[in-house]
Amino acid sequence: MMGLPHFCLFALFCLGGVSQNVPRLKLIPKDAMIQTFNQKERLMAMFHEAGSPQVVVGGRGTVWILTFVGSEITPTQVPVRVEEKAEKDCKKAAKGHCDNFIQLIERVENNTLVCGTNAGFPKCWILVNSTLQKTSQGQFVTVQGDSIVSGSPSQNAVSIAIEDSLYSALSGNKSSIQRSYGRKKGIKTRESWLSHAEFAGAALFPHEDRKEDEIFFFYNEVNQSAGLDEEPYKTWLGRVCKVDQGEKPVLADSWSTFLKARLVCGRPHEPTLFHQLQDAFVLREAGQTKAVLYGVFSSPWGSSAVCSYSMKEISSNLEKSKFKDATGSIPHPRPGTCVVPDSSSVSRMVTFIKDHPELETVIYPDEKQPLYVLQTNDSYTQVVVDKVRDASNVSHDVLFLGTAKGKIHKVLRSKERTVIIAEISPFKNEAPVRNMILDATTGHLYVSTEFEVTRLPLKDCSQYNENCWRCILARDPYCGWDAAGKSCSAVSQENHANRLIQSLDAPSTTQACKTAEGKLAQAAIKKVNVDRTAYVYLPCPLRSHHATYSWVKDSKVYPCSMEDQSCTLRFGQDLPMDEGVFKCTAREEGYKEEITAFEVSLSSGRILELALRASGAVLLAITILLL
Ligand SMILES: *[C@@H]1O[C@H](CO)[C@@H](O)[C@H](O)[C@H]1NC(C)=O
Ligand SMILES: *[C@@H]1O[C@H](CO)[C@@H](O)[C@H](O)[C@H]1NC(C)=O
Ligand SMILES: *[C@@H]1O[C@H](CO)[C@@H](O)[C@H](O)[C@H]1NC(C)=O
Ligand SMILES: *[C@@H]1O[C@H](CO)[C@@H](O)[C@H](O)[C@H]1NC(C)=O
Ligand SMILES: *[C@@H]1O[C@H](CO)[C@@H](O)[C@H](O)[C@H]1NC(C)=O
Ligand SMILES: *[C@@H]1O[C@H](CO)[C@@H](O)[C@H](O)[C@H]1NC(C)=O
Repeated sequence: MMGLPHFCLFALFCLGGVSQNVPRLKLIPKDAMIQTFNQKERLMAMFHEAGSPQVVVGGRGTVWILTFVGSEITPTQVPVRVEEKAEKDCKKAAKGHCDNFIQLIERVENNTLVCGTNAGFPKCWILVNSTLQKTSQGQFVTVQGDSIVSGSPSQNAVSIAIEDSLYSALSGNKSSIQRSYGRKKGIKTRESWLSHAEFAGAALFPHEDRKEDEIFFFYNEVNQSAGLDEEPYKTWLGRVCKVDQGEKPVLADSWSTFLKARLVCGRPHEPTLFHQLQDAFVLREAGQTKAVLYGVFSSPWGSSAVCSYSMKEISSNLEKSKFKDATGSIPHPRPGTCVVPDSSSVSRMVTFIKDHPELETVIYPDEKQPLYVLQTNDSYTQVVVDKVRDASNVSHDVLFLGTAKGKIHKVLRSKERTVIIAEISPFKNEAPVRNMILDATTGHLYVSTEFEVTRLPLKDCSQYNENCWRCILARDPYCGWDAAGKSCSAVSQENHANRLIQSLDAPSTTQACKTAEGKLAQAAIKKVNVDRTAYVYLPCPLRSHHATYSWVKDSKVYPCSMEDQSCTLRFGQDLPMDEGVFKCTAREEGYKEEITAFEVSLSSGRILELALRASGAVLLAITILLL
């Protein structure tokens, strides 16, 4: 039932059931390193090469090279100043933004290319050993009048380096997809093919025959004349071939293989709620051609859905679909095919693409529905995905999703359901996640907002170290319970053999742990003495947000009010004060845990206010005076 997602707008309405589409745990990373910049910095571009201890970020007139060594980050600042003339012209024209906002950092061949807005006259440099060099003539293949990035900091560019060339796309009024730098011929989209596109991602889809390699761009088209009650966004994918060289005379400077098709995150024949693509990521296992596209989409009121698509299916869809508004026969070879065409057939094929790059097919997600719809008051801005082998050497996709409030969701896509394992809060300030790069070789995730950069470990098993159940209920494929060592340990190539205990799909958690560990200790009872005329609030700290909590005294169940961090038993006018031992228990997947217990006794006299310490957090049992 996709229809309208039901949101827990007010915590109290959520009492009835437990939503699985919220993060199970809320975690503060233990050893995250973080670099905070001045708010004016406006970091936009981030670059990292797999295996390297460095991340390069682009700010306002600056490139920062951050080196992560031990528990320290060493920043190196490389100024990238606005050219004098550009600045003068910008100020004269009073266009604003007469700064150099670095929008793109990419490695093409052995050069690190850095491109900035340069006060409205965009320009690129080469970064060599912490210094900047001019790009030499001939390295740029940019087509007449176009630049790799835009002159305005509000219009982003996406890019992907493939072999010896850079493929990039520019958002906004003059949107285009280009092969913009490197050894191959520079070509771009024709103006009529894109209408105010805003790009969200790019990916290579390789084929066994490398000549058939396809390059995909994912973007929204924005209808600027849409009314207030109309949906202005439509998501598309655009596809070009690596072998494309443009074809004279019709498309000398343009792609001759460009195709575009609608991408939808929703069910066919049902109104779609999630129109705007925020970010896209293509996961491909090394050495394999099987690939999955993950996209995060948002609705006009700021909620999010995650969709996945098989790249193979997309590719074969594009091969079979009818062309929009095309009448008469389709030329042969089929327009848009990734082949180096022989000259006799070129002309008709290319003439056709010039007028009909759009396909009729609409691409729906796997299982024809979103993976899940997020049910918190936050939305996704970024997505990266890791391929993880669990303790039984079965591979799983683990998604890391950045949110508008600067959080990271770690999500397991498992056969039976998708689990939001945790919400990680690494940043000091609340700002949307701008960039994420996952380095599977070193096991790190690099994340940035406009003014903070952090590095997190992909495996952080000590977060679930308390006991076997906590470790297993976490459903984190990176971690398993080591019964001999009594710890939650990271799965590695070495310990595949001795099989850590895990239970990612089957709800056999209790069984798995029973043999591994004896009975759990009961929570220590805390004593509270309150005035008869007062009301007391008893807190029960929430750990898992997928568990159900209840307060019980002498087998009578008391209702609790769900707050962000606690299931609080509130005595008041509707619930008279009572004395005795109150216990709060959590139930999840057949596992029951006593979280906290209070022995309440009533007396006359002064009110006691107690600060209680339980599971590391300071909690307050608050008393309220009766009037
Ligand atoms: C959701 O968050 C926004 C801004 O962070 C806030 O203004 C709004 O009141 C929140 N809504 C709910 C239902 O919590
Ligand atoms: C790039 O650098 C590597 C190693 O330094 C070298 O082997 C390779 O030839 C270089 N490639 C080009 C195109 O310069
Ligand atoms: C960069 O620095 C390294 C080591 O300091 C040096 O070997 C190399 O020649 C330098 N490269 C350039 C282009 O200056
Ligand atoms: C884009 O084009 C529209 C209409 O042509 C214009 O009103 C708008 O100012 C342009 N936006 C930018 C950022 O140039
Ligand atoms: C944009 O919206 C207007 C107003 O609803 C509509 O007339 C027009 O056809 C739309 N344009 C596109 C390209 O969808
Ligand atoms: C895990 O499976 C992969 C692929 O099936 C295989 O290459 C690898 O050797 C396996 N690893 C172990 C430790 O069994």
